Amino acid sequence: MGLLTLESVRRRTFLKTASSYGLPLFPANYRSSRFLTNCEIEVSPHTITLRHLPPAFDGFRIVHLTDIHHSKYVSFNAVYRMIALANRQRPDLVFLTGDYVTWSKKYITPVAEALRHLKARYGVFGVLGNHDMRVGAEDVTQALRWAGIEMLRNASAQIQRFGQTLWVTGVDEYSYGQSDLALALKGLPPSAPRILLAHNPEIIAEATEHQVDFVAAGHTHGGQVKLPGLRSLNSLTQPTQEFLEGFVSSGRTQMYISRGLGKVIVPLRVKCPAEIPVYTFKAVKHRTHPTA
Ligand SMILES: [Fe+2]
Repeated sequence: MGLLTLESVRRRTFLKTASSYGLPLFPANYRSSRFLTNCEIEVSPHTITLRHLPPAFDGFRIVHLTDIHHSKYVSFNAVYRMIALANRQRPDLVFLTGDYVTWSKKYITPVAEALRHLKARYGVFGVLGNHDMRVGAEDVTQALRWAGIEMLRNASAQIQRFGQTLWVTGVDEYSYGQSDLALALKGLPPSAPRILLAHNPEIIAEATEHQVDFVAAGHTHGGQVKLPGLRSLNSLTQPTQEFLEGFVSSGRTQMYISRGLGKVIVPLRVKCPAEIPVYTFKAVKHRTHPTA
């Protein structure tokens, strides 16, 4: 695990950043949320070592955004701040692991409009979360495809660089019983590293079975509200959830669970800052044996 860097995102910084990245400033009909004035987002760098990573992708940088939850608790301005901060990391790829909205369809178009401004050299890839399934899987998928995001619904995509290929796989939400990892991985060459986008970390058992190398997951919000002596908000609402945040490994599978960016149930995060993980892919170095 890499060192953590705490980055405070304040309005003044955002305005400067947004304009320097060519982002339009906020539409007049959106007002700043009173819950966001001290919003902090932790940018956490991590190195992910992968077997059989093609050399063209050694050092690739991936920004992972999850659980944005555009809603009355997470304003349009806040979503734009997240995107400006993601763009500042200058990623090669962006992974989006679901829950773009919470309960209402009316936030789908605005969140897609904001996500349209993500910049990544080799593309933005997304999967759906449980809230997206509940609000409208087809509506969310369509809006995000309009925004230029490649939605991986039990499917894989290829990224080409210098004649070499990296595969990225995504599954639908596990808790809805609609994830089909076998189908999603169909067509991958046996030697290709298996990189999976999944909203729900409970996919790990299946991912291990299918020899997935790396899973980027979200869903838990890292607990979201952690008061001393009490169980986290997430563990109260989802008592079967085994993992809350950070790295989990199982067999050859390593998974990173991001605390994500948004808020549900209550408009607060307590002792659980929002997070944007930034992964750097590294190839496993094979030892060379000197010949006599
Ligand atoms: Fe969520």
